[in-house]
Amino acid sequence: MLHTLRPLKRYRGDIQVDVLAREIRPLWRQVRHSAHWAPLRRLMREHSLHALRATDVQVNLDTITASLPVGGPHDELLAACRNLIPWRVGPYQLGDLVIDSEWRSDQKWRRIEPIIGSVKNRRVADVGCSNGYFLFKVSQFNPEVALGFDPIDRCWLQFGLLQSLFQIPHLGFIPTGLASLKAFPNFFDLILCMGVLYHQRDPSAGCARLFEATRPGGRVFLESLVIDQPGSHLLRPQERYAKMRNAWVIPTAEALVTLMTEAGFSDIELHRFGPITSAEQRRTEWAPYESLADFLDPNDSSKTVEGYPAPHSAAVLARRPL
Ligand SMILES: C[S@@+](CC[C@H](N)C(=O)[O-])C[C@H]1O[C@@H](n2cnc3c(N)ncnc32)[C@H](O)[C@@H]1O
Repeated sequence: MLHTLRPLKRYRGDIQVDVLAREIRPLWRQVRHSAHWAPLRRLMREHSLHALRATDVQVNLDTITASLPVGGPHDELLAACRNLIPWRVGPYQLGDLVIDSEWRSDQKWRRIEPIIGSVKNRRVADVGCSNGYFLFKVSQFNPEVALGFDPIDRCWLQFGLLQSLFQIPHLGFIPTGLASLKAFPNFFDLILCMGVLYHQRDPSAGCARLFEATRPGGRVFLESLVIDQPGSHLLRPQERYAKMRNAWVIPTAEALVTLMTEAGFSDIELHRFGPITSAEQRRTEWAPYESLADFLDPNDSSKTVEGYPAPHSAAVLARRPL
């Protein structure tokens, strides 16, 4: 799995490698002993990377699609993928195997692609990248490097598995969260941070981390669940929001602008994408747990089951001044 860190090597002089190593070492020990890892480890041990490598990868399709070599270890691959359920972002097709993820992330990509601009020869981060769907989409435009951050070990393993098949150059995964951006001072040309802010107890501190890791003149695309109310304020749910225990602060769309302005960003564009729908987030065979339909009031889809305003999506694109 450590192969996902290889793209960092060439940046040793620019990033704080010791800070990252201190954070990743204990996670690696934990992952090696996790039940998620066993079938994947077996697959990687018993078959060389050459046997796993896809013969063709199409990252420009809505469903990221890889053709696999005839006679490859397809049953073992299926077992490894099943063992990593739930798959939150996607979809993917690996040979005959279709992984229909909880989120139809292609719908989000269609919304954001025209907004984020060119990534060619840029250093890109995707903070809260899950299994890296958006990193794979970004790779079609030849960034200098694209690095995903996510603290969930299952996401690291899913990315590691996909990247063993795809072997797309200059893509990496760091198995830690937003706070680890401190190891990348003034580093990124573009940071995507989507669906993460409301998991922060202190969203202002999160925006400050994004600012510090952006090079002067670089940009951040910050997307979040928001409540559709006028003005700039934050909802702090009493216990849960849409059944999530870890949704600490739900901003209004305008509060995203306020947070980013206070963090020091300028040229802030606000984009409102409307309510999240079950066409985009739903239960599937590959994410067979509760999903959006279970989180909304069955009699009034404009409210969560707790009676809060239902989630909408909004984003800001903001620049760090020179
Ligand atoms: C709602 S999902 C969003 C996934 C993807 N970015 C998207 O927009 O579809 C939130 C992701 O953020 C990750 N996450 C949670 N806390 C985080 C943190 N402090 N730093 C980075 N990622 C975090 C979760 O593990 C999860 O993969």
